[in-house]
Amino acid sequence: MMKLSLFLLLSVVAFAATKPASPSEYDLEEGYFWIPDEQGRLHLVNTNIVPTFFEPIDSNNITFALFTRTNIDNPVYFHPHELDVLIASGLFDTSRPTLFNTHGWTGDGYSVHLIEVKDTLLAKHDFNVINIDWGGPASTFYTQAIQYINPMGDMIGEFINSLSDYYQYDHSQMGIMGHSLGGQLIGRVGYACQGRLAYIIALDPAYPAFSTDILENKLDKSDAQYVQVIHANSGFLGYPDSIGHADFHPNGGVKQTGCGPDIIGTCSHFLIKDMIAESYVNTYLSWRCDSYADFLAGLCEDNETGYWGGWPVDTQSSGDYYLTTNGEPPFIIQ
Ligand SMILES: *[C@@H]1O[C@H](CO)[C@@H](O)[C@H](O)[C@H]1NC(C)=O
Ligand SMILES: *[C@@H]1O[C@H](CO)[C@@H](O)[C@H](O)[C@H]1NC(C)=O
Repeated sequence: MMKLSLFLLLSVVAFAATKPASPSEYDLEEGYFWIPDEQGRLHLVNTNIVPTFFEPIDSNNITFALFTRTNIDNPVYFHPHELDVLIASGLFDTSRPTLFNTHGWTGDGYSVHLIEVKDTLLAKHDFNVINIDWGGPASTFYTQAIQYINPMGDMIGEFINSLSDYYQYDHSQMGIMGHSLGGQLIGRVGYACQGRLAYIIALDPAYPAFSTDILENKLDKSDAQYVQVIHANSGFLGYPDSIGHADFHPNGGVKQTGCGPDIIGTCSHFLIKDMIAESYVNTYLSWRCDSYADFLAGLCEDNETGYWGGWPVDTQSSGDYYLTTNGEPPFIIQ
């Protein structure tokens, strides 16, 4: 009988060497998932067991990093209860829009897409970028990290509400992006902001354990004025249902171009983080369509188009959109 204490830690190399690449070899009992960490190592997680003991967390377990064009490589760091630090820096400017951005399970403030999005966005647009580092809680067992989502989302949401109050800076000036478990966390942040944030961009929001009611208030349309979901590994590591105002399915949304068999989904689930930065340079034009098969058959060529990521955010699109991309940079097919 598998227990929580039997979490396996395997390197991808060791795993690949001992297992043939056949999907049947990977069939697991209900509720068990292989989940890769940010280094690509696989962990066998039993989502049937919710941990009953975990360390309490407070505002010090979350660190914000404010970047602007004036301090592109020298962020101002502060915790959610330290609005005074942001104010004292004099760098936050209410004439600019603000993007909050965060990582997923086992990630932290140095996760590559946080840095890449900050750099590509600030190169082109005058923004306040606030990266959210919850690396401590994110490095606990997956099922435990999930238990931290609601309290963390509330602390981040309260910070955003106090920022808005202090500067008389409307929530509609702010948006938030997150990957994987961070894609679920931002749903809770949006909820704590009473759905007033301009937009949420959820990059392949986490699926393992979220098929059940493990968490109240999973990411949905009520969490922001506009919720955009980008699906990269639907039904495996990524949430399969269309839960946003618009749902984008690059390469069908299940497996990304250039990822090989990708049985576990590691490649596809993480590739979306590299892909998003390019959206601030160029546009991922996408077509409204009923399915990827229809899209590939050319049935949707004359349908409405939309795009994901980038700035300004496309808040006009609604429904499901499809596109194909390259498997490596430049991802966007011209
Ligand atoms: C929260 O932060 C404290 C120090 O402020 C640390 O001791 C603790 O391990 C952190 N908890 C988690 C879950 O990261
Ligand atoms: C896309 O275009 C096809 C072919 O014209 C049409 O049947 C379909 O309803 C359209 N789908 C959407 C979602 O607009």
